[in-house]
Order: sequence, then structure tokens, then C-alpha cells
Amino acid sequence: MSSTMTVSGPTTGTSRTSPATETEGDPAGNRRVFPPGFLWGAATAAFQIEGAAAEDGRTPSIWDTFCRVPGAVVGGDHGDVACDHYHRWPEDLDLMSRLGLQAYRFSTSWPRIVPEPGRIEPRGLDFYSRLVDGLLERNIQPWLTLYHWDLPQWLEDLGGWTNRDVADRMTEYALALHDRLGDRVRHWSTLNEPWCSAFLGYSGGQHAPGRQEPQAAVSAMHHLLLAHGRTARALRSVDRDITLGFTVNCTVSDAAHPWHPEDAVLARRTEMLLQEVFLEPALLGRYPEGAAEAYASAGVTIPVRDGDLAEIAAPVDFVGVNYYNGGAVCALDVPEDEALPTQAAVTRPTSDPNVGLGSSTLVSRRLPRTAMDWEVQPDGLRRLLEYLHREYTGPAGIPLYVTENGAAFDDVVSPDGSVDDAERTAYVLDHLAAVADAAARGADVRGYFVWSLLDNFEWAYGYAKRFGVVHVDFATQRRTPKRSALAYAAVIRSGGLGGAGTVGP
Ligand code: FCB
Repeated sequence: MSSTMTVSGPTTGTSRTSPATETEGDPAGNRRVFPPGFLWGAATAAFQIEGAAAEDGRTPSIWDTFCRVPGAVVGGDHGDVACDHYHRWPEDLDLMSRLGLQAYRFSTSWPRIVPEPGRIEPRGLDFYSRLVDGLLERNIQPWLTLYHWDLPQWLEDLGGWTNRDVADRMTEYALALHDRLGDRVRHWSTLNEPWCSAFLGYSGGQHAPGRQEPQAAVSAMHHLLLAHGRTARALRSVDRDITLGFTVNCTVSDAAHPWHPEDAVLARRTEMLLQEVFLEPALLGRYPEGAAEAYASAGVTIPVRDGDLAEIAAPVDFVGVNYYNGGAVCALDVPEDEALPTQAAVTRPTSDPNVGLGSSTLVSRRLPRTAMDWEVQPDGLRRLLEYLHREYTGPAGIPLYVTENGAAFDDVVSPDGSVDDAERTAYVLDHLAAVADAAARGADVRGYFVWSLLDNFEWAYGYAKRFGVVHVDFATQRRTPKRSALAYAAVIRSGGLGGAGTVGP
């Protein structure tokens, strides 16, 4: 019989038994083994941690501007200082080293590198060059993401992602970075979660630049894809051996009431409009069947020109998967107390980001929830990885990496300064078990990056939501590894989960 993993939580006085360790795909009994060479990492993003907003020539990004819009971000929080990583990076790299991390996924700040049209800022390049050297000295692989949502404001003033020319601007930015870092950074990603950039940014207005125009969102989606394809091709043309990819945010969508055909149709359409509209053009050179019709139902068209789809489908070497939770969706009216909140409690009015989806409510399944009100559903990650491998990446021989997974909980700092985050610890271990199960069932998944290394600026939620495995005291900038960090380090050390010689937080 397979054993269960019990993570006790002294802060709450409770203990929690993980159901994920009881699932199939565990031939060794109770030990989860990861594929040979499995890569263990952590992720962050420039705007969320760097601070130093006006230093060394950096100009504002759309997020600097958005944070100043009244009511747009909880608490009026902004990224001026954040985790002050711009100055404290050596300490942060030492922390990573102590945790045994093998790879660090970070993003570069476009307005640090191209603060105004046509000008490359050497001090911005210097910063990332120092960071990369520091990683390599500590034997940590740099995984660089070019766009994690912080478009230079000067580009937004020219129309932002609704302007097709941004694709060329992104390519110039990428080549400037590659010129400086390409000898040392071998893993490059173009985009992080383009759905959020396009739909939260341009139709929902929950994210910068806060526009609320469905056509703008779908134009942004297409131009993000074009920027991905064009940039990927440009990078490969100067560096044949580069390892290139992109990251999408994914869900596993279930019908809240499977006996209602409307819910079943909605569940499929949710996956199509969230992830497949990016995966299919990028990997297969076509938009999913039904996407154009869905957008047309909202009076919106995809601004595709001849040759775009071929350009978008640039060869890639990996696909990054960000997974936090799946969801049960309902097309019909549901009582208010059954619906799950889907955005931060901001006071600025926002719109439905989901262009062409139709009426949809996320329904509670009475699963445990994180502080974001996201349901905890580790098995969704196993299902997701298997489905992506089967439908998209497996046939092309492209590996998957979990480039983000993690959870916000309301941490309690003990008098001795420690943070016993039992729920986050269980979340991470259970999701790791799901990854191992997916791999055991044939999904080609080669690494995991926990989100996030540090507590940080959680976009419209501000600093109130903590995702770090390392606690940050924002008043003093003191870093303290939480129990989840120690548990993750133990997994990395032992190379697996459960069984002899294993995980102990
Ligand atoms: C993802 C983002 C990341 C972080 C996590 C919680 O959507 O890529 O920056 O905010 O969610």
C-alpha cells in the first residue's frame, strides 16, 4: 500500500495528509522518482522583485504607470523598491545556492535595456551581466525570460501590443541582450503568459496597461505571438545552439455540471481561449478551430496577415507550463456563494477579460483554497502535463518544463523569525508528486521552477499576497527561508519524494 505524506503544521496545530501521494504512477511504492537530469529551479520576474525603478537609466514600464492609477492595485502598492533585488542580488544568489537550486528563471526589464526609442542602456546590460556571472559562479543555470509583462511605457504610448511594430522592437531588445549575454545564457524564453499580457492588460483591465477593449486584446494576442516567432527566429539566426522556448499559463477546465452540455462546451472553450490560442499558432502554425468564431461573437477579429502564422511557428526547444489550479466552469447562473472570486479586490472598475468565452462562472468544488482563492488541485497538473504532451509537444519531441507553480498563503512569522508555512509546503510537495506521476505516465517533463523564490509584488494584489518560499520583510528587506524552502531543498538533495532518505521539511 502506498503511504501518505504527512506534513504537520505547528502554527495551526493541525496536520494535513496529502492525497496526491496516493495516486497511481508510483511503481516504487512510496517514492516518487524524477526523470534523470530533472532540473530543480525557482522563478521570479523583474518588475516583481528588482525595485530601483529610476536607477541606471531605467524609464517607466506600463506597470509603473498602472500602479499610479487610483484603485488599480490593492493598497496603492508599486514596484519602486519591491525586494530591492537590484541591489541585494548577491545575497539572493547565495540563498539560491544554499537551497541547492540548479536553475534560476528570471526576467529582464525591457525599459532597463531600451529606456527610450533606439537607445540601448549599457548600465542595464551590466546589471544582468553581473547577475548571470553570479549565477554561473554558483553553478546555477540562468533561464532568461525576455517579457514578463513590463513593456516600456514609451512603447505603450505608441499603441503597445496593439501596434504590430512592437514585434520588431522586441526583436531588437532581444538581440541587444543576446549580444551581451548569449555567451553565458543558454536558455532563453520569449514570453511569459501572453494571455495575461493581452487579455488582463487590454480587455479586462486588471493588469497594465489597463485598457478595456476586446479588439485591442485580440490584436495584442496576435502581436505577442508574432513577436515570439520573430524574436525566436532572430535569436536562432545569431546562435544556432541556443535553447529557446516560451511559457503559457494553463488550466485544466472541467464542467461544473457535466450533465449540462453547455458546461461541457464551456470547459473545452475555456482551455482553447486560455492556452490553445497560444500553443497552436506557436507549435502548429494555426489558430485553433473555433477561435476566430468565438472572437467574432464578440465582434472582434484576429489581425492575421499573410505569412504571419508561418513566422509565429518558429521552432522551439521547450514549452514552459505555468500551473496554479484548474477550475470547474458553469455557463448558467449559479448562487453567489458558490462562485469563486477571480480577481483582486481593486476599486477601479474592470471588465471581463475573456473575449468570446460567453457567460462563465468559476464554481467552488469545496477544495482547499489558497489566499488567492485558487483551489488546490495537484492532480490537475498531472492531467495538464499529460494532455500537453499528448496533444502538442510529445509528437514534436519538445520537452515540457513547469516554469511556475506555487501558492500564496497568509504566513505567520514566529517570534524567532521562522515561518512554518505548512500549507505551502504541502502544496509544493503535492504538485511535485503530480509532476513525477505525469513523467511516470510518459509526459516528457524535465524540470520544475517553484513560484516564487521571494515574496514579491503580486501585480494587482500588491504585496499582500505572498508566494515566496523565502519570506521577505519589506520593512527591513530581511530574507528568511520558510519551511517550504527547506522542504524543497530536501527534495532537491534527495532527488525525489517520499521513501527512504527523503523529504523532511
Ligand atoms: C503568474 C505570473 C507570476 C505570478 C504568479 C502568481 O501568472 O506569471 O508573475 O504573479 O502568477
